[in-house]
Amino acid sequence: MADRPYIVGNWKMNGMRAMLPEARAIDRAAQRLMKVEVALAPPFTLIHAVHREVEQIGVGAQDCHAGRDGAHTGDVSAAMIADAGAKFVILGHSERRAAHREDNDMVAAKIAAANAAGLDIILCCGESLETRDEGRAEDFVLGQLRHALAHVDAAGERLTVAYEPVWAIGTGRTAAPRDIAAMHAAIRTLLVESFGAEEGAQVRILYGGSVKPENAREILALENVDGALVGGASLSAESFLGIAHAAIGDEDA
Ligand code: 13P
Repeated sequence: MADRPYIVGNWKMNGMRAMLPEARAIDRAAQRLMKVEVALAPPFTLIHAVHREVEQIGVGAQDCHAGRDGAHTGDVSAAMIADAGAKFVILGHSERRAAHREDNDMVAAKIAAANAAGLDIILCCGESLETRDEGRAEDFVLGQLRHALAHVDAAGERLTVAYEPVWAIGTGRTAAPRDIAAMHAAIRTLLVESFGAEEGAQVRILYGGSVKPENAREILALENVDGALVGGASLSAESFLGIAHAAIGDEDA
């Protein structure tokens, strides 16, 4: 695990203004948890409000459009996200790849847009159960990443990779520790090949998929697991902070 684990909440399509006290509670606790880096990606509608509400935690977006501006009804550009107070953007999430048919070329175009807007990137990858059962998980994930990494301007701490097996998202199933460790090791090797030993080692690799306070400690103790990208369990301060505590091995997690 990294010296300072990175715990990121992805609120997905959840969160009204009534959730702002939850963000504030997470922020207040994070101010006392300096050994953990905590961040939240609320829906677009709450980015500015969460940004104003918090002092310590990072705020990001869950997606951006690949274009700079123009006639794209309903879309939001990377520059708009940055203007609202976001510091990073999640790209290539499997839910967007599936529901919005985002392919690797589209993810690459969005990476370029995020680069231009100065946003840090959390780049998601992950295989379906079918691909895993066929024994092709590693090839598939590394293929997704190779395509995307060629477009990344700044690696090091500006880039984070999130490995989220599609079948583990929102299902209550987590990948076996051995499989997580093997995939993260393969991703680390690719990062070092792509960016060199020093910068490649700085890129954080998060695990995502049904991470909860109860399983976080075992997952986060694995080599090359530098944090977690958390969906459902990030919607309450109590469970999200339970994961943050587990990341540093707190007994009361
Ligand atoms: P869950 O934690 O709800 O499984 O979601 C994981 C995820 O997709 C985070 O991006």
